[in-house]
Amino acid sequence: MDGQNKIIIGAYWGDEGKGKIVDLLASEADWVVRFNGGDNAGHTIVANGKEVVLHVLPSGVVQGRNAAIGPDVFFNPKSFFADYESVIKAGFKISGRILIDERAHVIMPYHTAMDAGGGATEQLGTTKRGIGPVAKDKASRTEDITVSDLVGTGFKEKLNAVVAAKANELIGNRITTAAELNKYANEIYMQYVRYANELKKYVGSCAYELNEALASGKSLLLEGAQATLLDIVHGTRPFVTSSNCTAGGAAANLGIDIRKFRIIAVAKAYPTRVGEGSFPTELGNYEDAKKERKGETLTAAEKKKAIDGDLPLLGKWIRQDGREFGATTGRPRRTGFPDFVALRYSGMINGADEWAITKIDVLSGKPFKAAVAYEKDGKKTTRFPFKLEGWKPVYGRKEYFWPPMDENEKMAAVQKGYDALPQGMKEYVKDLAISTGAPVSMVSIGPEREMTVVKDALKRTAEYLK
Ligand code: GDP
Ligand code: IMO
Ligand code: MG
Repeated sequence: MDGQNKIIIGAYWGDEGKGKIVDLLASEADWVVRFNGGDNAGHTIVANGKEVVLHVLPSGVVQGRNAAIGPDVFFNPKSFFADYESVIKAGFKISGRILIDERAHVIMPYHTAMDAGGGATEQLGTTKRGIGPVAKDKASRTEDITVSDLVGTGFKEKLNAVVAAKANELIGNRITTAAELNKYANEIYMQYVRYANELKKYVGSCAYELNEALASGKSLLLEGAQATLLDIVHGTRPFVTSSNCTAGGAAANLGIDIRKFRIIAVAKAYPTRVGEGSFPTELGNYEDAKKERKGETLTAAEKKKAIDGDLPLLGKWIRQDGREFGATTGRPRRTGFPDFVALRYSGMINGADEWAITKIDVLSGKPFKAAVAYEKDGKKTTRFPFKLEGWKPVYGRKEYFWPPMDENEKMAAVQKGYDALPQGMKEYVKDLAISTGAPVSMVSIGPEREMTVVKDALKRTAEYLK
């Protein structure tokens, strides 16, 4: 990093590789901060030959940075400890401070049970981590449990009061029975009081700590979870998550001044989506994707068919090459052609200063197009509609293609910089920059930390915009 404060957010429907980019930038940040979502997030870091998937801890912990979990995060203690252990197990040290905001809301067993137990939100295809139910309790202001409650002396009374207030809901959802209600509350208490004892030392105020850090010249790296199109306000409702996933959301929810931050939007080279909801540029369909297993390979004949225009096969090829299976739930991710309409929208909503393009290596050897507009019933728009249903993509005339890079070519590009990337790839990056009006500061060509082309990227892509 360069001493500059940065906000990293996802531009599509999640899983853009935010974890990789945050890990890369973390080496020079003093604090890395998760500001939204909960353990519905799965952020993958590949470094020193190890892979770590984090759900609660910000990706910067792997680089030994101070790690903060902000007040708008839905905090699952069990996942926090699991993250902590997986970092240690992979051979990394957690050497920085850990700060968990006292205002964050705690995910309780009944939240996950409600999310996993079917009901009205079943059709959304959630991660079943209790995110919707805990967000609902947060909004109620009477049935919520904060981290402050959890580690406070009145936790037992608070928990009993909340369980009593929610009795009908818990019994109605068959989570417990009227006769077992007290026992149920007590079991949760026994489990959570142990967490509380372990967590106490980490609890504090992100607003004060982070603003003091900013004032003393320390640098902050804010790590978004989920992504703009899953944002509770600006996303593709109702198929969204329950928190703010945007750069503005980061500032509002941490209580920090957004003017002090550079905003980097992470755009996967092609969009993916897990769960339900419209997806205009989808290749193939979700029902077929659900039948697929990780590691299935395409035959040479199938690859040829995909190159010749079999789009469902191309979608499968991208899914398999990109290992597009959820880091949290293992579900196959739906894959699609790049969508400049969506990216332009995300760039606008976040005020993106620059793009980090990830997984561009996955598109190597595969011809593709990018959506530049949508149409429906003879109407055309370059805006991203609130209700996406029925809008079909209008593709630009250009077809992008470049042959796969071998390891030597990849290493050469990392060392020599942007100019050494394949011509077809640069053509795509150029059109993405022009379409969205923002330059590209990083091009990621592999999951490993070092497989990132940074040198000259911003300079060259800014030239496209002149
Ligand atoms: P996040 O939720 O945005 O942090 O992304 P995930 O970790 O859920 O999913 C991204 C996946 O892509 C992970 O498996 C990463 O290791 C992998 N990845 C990240 N960047 C690249 C890249 O440039 N190329 C390839 N091939 N894989 C990448
Ligand atoms: P990261 O941070 C991809 C999706 C779910 C579902 C919808 C609502 O790894 O990018 P929720 O459990 O939040 O109530 O589910 O949002 N979703 C994600 N998709 N990546 C994520 O996180 C996601 N977090 C939630 O699949 O469609
Ligand atoms: Mg993910």
